[in-house]
This record gives sequence, structure tokens and C-alpha cells, in this order.
Amino acid sequence: MADKVIPLADHRYAASVPRIPNLLLPPSGLLGDRLGRALRDLRISVTDRCNFRCSYCMPREVFDKQYSFLPHSSLLSFEEITRLARIFVAHGVRKLRLTGGEPLLRKNLEVLIGMLSDLRTADGQALDLTLTTNASLLTKKARALKDAGLQRVTVSLDALDDATFRRMNDADFPVAEVLEGIAQAQAVGLGPIKVNMVVKRGTNEHEILAMARHFRGTSVVLRFIEYMDVGASNGWRMDEVMPSADVVARIHSEFPLESIEPGASGETAERWRYLDGAGEIGVISSVTQAFCRDCNRARLSTEGKLFLCLFANHGHDLRSLLRGNASDAQIAAAIGLIWQGLDDRYSELRGAFAADASSGQRRVEMHYIGG
Ligand code: GTP
Ligand code: 5AD
Ligand code: SF4
Ligand code: SF4
Repeated sequence: MADKVIPLADHRYAASVPRIPNLLLPPSGLLGDRLGRALRDLRISVTDRCNFRCSYCMPREVFDKQYSFLPHSSLLSFEEITRLARIFVAHGVRKLRLTGGEPLLRKNLEVLIGMLSDLRTADGQALDLTLTTNASLLTKKARALKDAGLQRVTVSLDALDDATFRRMNDADFPVAEVLEGIAQAQAVGLGPIKVNMVVKRGTNEHEILAMARHFRGTSVVLRFIEYMDVGASNGWRMDEVMPSADVVARIHSEFPLESIEPGASGETAERWRYLDGAGEIGVISSVTQAFCRDCNRARLSTEGKLFLCLFANHGHDLRSLLRGNASDAQIAAAIGLIWQGLDDRYSELRGAFAADASSGQRRVEMHYIGG
């Protein structure tokens, strides 16, 4: 109960109340922003809490016992999330990803999954419904998630070496339990499974080949992610970024690779295939090769703020519309206006922004809007 009276928790990031236009045009399913980018992918954070303390996301010095996580009353309810998701789908969204923090910490998550899996696109298609997890609770929950209608999962795993992994998650969590979670997810059919490894130079770069070797020849797609300067807590430094080109070169020298055409426009990962037929890997290069040009993602925070870019310092408070009795048509029109006004492309402008802190506003943290 103590966490019900934490002041200011709702005001941690700047957000404005969305404007509802006078003319309520119904969603066409073809929403485009100022750069012509469609809205296709909605990432929904269901909790800002996590049982890990990965240094690049929730460093323990910052996210300690003193840290005020959101009180329960601030969180969007499952009904509120589903109502918004339905409106986003009418605007053209085809993929829903549940994130956190650690989404499996949200109580009864399978109930939400059941509600979201009933949604259909305008042409009657089921959505791509997926979830990003650290897998600490996956062994226990995989079956219920699958039965509720989840299609696939993406698991974060930064090393196979147990000591390195325990150090990186800073919760002393063992690799073996993550691997067991992945195996269980595979067994119940939550595939294709992807594994995301954030590569930090000097921390886990020595694990690149071991990870490649381990997942080659399985149906799991391993993806290497450049360590990003999201949020303001992780003390990011460019010299800790391992460029994806170096990751690919290192793997190629042991297991020859060739590049594959991108699957869909706006994809985060560049794909590579093992020449010996042992499957594919991906690299996500948001630092050295920004992919903002085709960005089709929006993010809904745990308490209902819409962020249009991972690096945004300003959100749009959709919860105020939900709890202020706005109609679906009004909310849809307000979201349309927000997306049409969008011209965020932070990664491509990183050099120009240099010290984003000069704006005086805090950038959002990854644990709050999800990866
Ligand atoms: P799939 O549909 O499975 O291909 O997923 P995805 O690659 O769209 O999503 P996922 O959450 O697996 O993304 C992997 C990582 O890419 C995230 O954890 C982030 O580190 C990074 N990422 C995802 N979306 C964005 C984005 O819009 N901008 C930037 N800069 N990085 C992103
Ligand atoms: N850089 C890159 N990826 C990050 N994630 C969180 N913080 C960062 C960061 N600083 C992503 C990772 C992780 C997911 C939950 O969020 O991919 O697997
Ligand atoms: Fe938790 Fe994922 Fe962030 Fe690690 S990266 S602290 S597992 S939310
Ligand atoms: Fe999209 Fe922002 Fe990521 Fe660029 S940095 S790809 S605009 S979320």
C-alpha cells in the first residue's frame, strides 16, 4: 500500500494533454506522419518494474530502494490498454509488443493477452502479438501465455558465460534459467523466438562468438544490439559501443555470413545468413546506422503516455482522455493529429543534438517505455 501515495510519480516526464480536433475523421488505417512514415507497430509497457538491474537500462545506483516506481492507480488497466490498442489498430497498427520493465511481473498478464489477441485489423487479420522478456519467469508462464493467444517471445540474454551474465543483470540471475525459459517457450510453440544481446565493448564482447555458436543451427534468431544512449541514467559512452560492422566481421571470420534482404520496411534489424545453412542472425545498429527514416513505431508507457520516439523527452497523455470520458472517435482523432505532426528522428540527428540535456527536459528511460 505504501506505494499509493508517492507524489510526483505521474509527472516524471513532461507530457501534454492531446488536442481533440473539431472534425472527427474516422481512422483510415493509413496514417502517415510528416516524413510519410506509417504507424504499424505499438509497443506497450505494462510495468516500469524489473527484477534485473542491467547497467545499460536500470543501473542499481539509480534504481535502488529509494526509487519511486509508479503507484498501481497510475497504471492503465487492461481494459484501458485494450481500448487504446483497438484504436491504434484502426489507424493501421499490425504489431503489438508488450514490454516493461519486465512485462511478466504484471499480475494476470495472460488476461490482457487474451483481450489483445481478439483484436483484428480492418481486413480481418490477427495481429502480430509478441512480448519482450528477460525470461526469469518464462519457464513458469510460457504455457499460459501461449494458451492466452501470445504468438512469440523475444528474450534478452547478454552472455552465456554465467559470471558475465550475473554481473550484467546485477541480480545474480543464472544463465541456465534463461535457457530453460527459452526451451520451454519453444516447447509450447511461442516461436519464432528471438534472442536480443546488447553488446557493450569491454563488458560482454568476448561472448559474441560463444552466443553465435550456441544459437547456430537452432530455430532461435540471435540479434546483436548496439548499446544506446537512451535515458539519462546509464552513463553511456561512445567508446563502449561495439559497432555492428565489427560484430558481423568477428562472426564472419569464424562462420562465414552473407547479407539477406530486409523482411519488411521499418525493421530494426539488418539480417545475415550463415553460408553453411545454420540459420540467420540480426544486427540492430541504432547508433552507427540509424534507421529512423522508416520508423513506424509508437510507444505507450505504463501510465498511458504516448511517446513517438525512444529518445523523446515529451509524451502525450492519453490516459487523461481515457479517464476524462473522451469517446473512441475523439481519442482516435487526437492520436491521428499527434502522429501526423511527428518528425522525430533522434538517432539520425544524434550528432546535431549532442547535449540533449540542454533542453532541460529528462529523456525517457528504457524501463519506462520498454525496449
Ligand atoms: P521483431 O518484430 O521481432 O523483429 O522486433 P523488433 O526488432 O521490432 O523489436 P525488439 O523489441 O526486439 O527490438 C530490439 C531492440 O532494438 C530494442 O530492444 C531496442 O534496443 C532496439 N529498438 C527497437 N525499436 C527501436 C527504435 O524504434 N529505435 C531505436 N533507436 N532502437 C530500437
Ligand atoms: N541500449 C540498447 N538496448 C537497450 N535495451 C535496454 N536498454 C538498452 C540500451 N541502453 C533493450 C535491450 C533489452 C531490451 C529489454 O531493451 O534490447 O533486451
Ligand atoms: Fe530489466 Fe530488460 Fe531493463 Fe534489463 S534491459 S533491467 S531485464 S527491463
Ligand atoms: Fe524511431 Fe526514434 Fe528509434 Fe529513430 S530513434 S528509429 S525515430 S524511435
